[in-house]
Amino acid sequence: MVDRLGCMGDRDRSDRQKWDRKYREKGSESGATEPAEWLVAHRDLLTPEPRGRALDVACRTGRNAIYLARLGFTVDALDVSGVAIAWLQEHVEREGLSVHAKCCDLTREPLPRRDYQVVLNFNFLLRGLFAALKDATVPGGLVFFESFTRLQMELPGGPSDPEHTLEAGELHRAFADFEILDYRETTLFPEDVQRTRAIASLVARRSER
Ligand SMILES: C[S@@+](CC[C@H](N)C(=O)[O-])C[C@H]1O[C@@H](n2cnc3c(N)ncnc32)[C@H](O)[C@@H]1O
Repeated sequence: MVDRLGCMGDRDRSDRQKWDRKYREKGSESGATEPAEWLVAHRDLLTPEPRGRALDVACRTGRNAIYLARLGFTVDALDVSGVAIAWLQEHVEREGLSVHAKCCDLTREPLPRRDYQVVLNFNFLLRGLFAALKDATVPGGLVFFESFTRLQMELPGGPSDPEHTLEAGELHRAFADFEILDYRETTLFPEDVQRTRAIASLVARRSER
């Protein structure tokens, strides 16, 4: 069964159940609502051609998808959580934004077969998706990627599974066939243990050829 958000039935959807529960408990304003600072810092690269398309994977309630839509992109936004996708759909209908929000389990379902000028992957790590993110990017298009590094595992409340964190240099190596326009491995807010985040961030361009 597929519901109106494109979500599959719950029977075999453990990721979906986990994230839906979390979002129901915390409410739609939980977590950051402002666009990612890394994306905003590279605003000068974000110049949509007419009808420019963007993809936001694991979009949650769409803070980054909404930012790109307000700049003029038409955005496909995907997340496993039907709760988050329903909130995003309500928001974009209210604001009249061109965001197509869809429920999608990225461990099982392929990315849409489209060429995107901009592809976003923030705070989500599925190594099996690296190649698909690159394929989804039009020649000359951009990938923005940011996720936790191993150092986050040493912080209170950090992930316990190394599968969910990037090794030192891993993100840079993964996009070595793209032109890496900016890259960092850093610890943000080191003075405030509740906010400290050890992350790697990248913006990279697919070659024109
Ligand atoms: C930490 S949140 C990051 C959200 C957003 N990218 C941001 O930076 O605000 C991770 C998101 O990944 C989604 N997610 C987890 N597993 C997924 C999967 N298998 N397929 C698609 N999305 C998934 C969750 O529902 C959650 O919204």
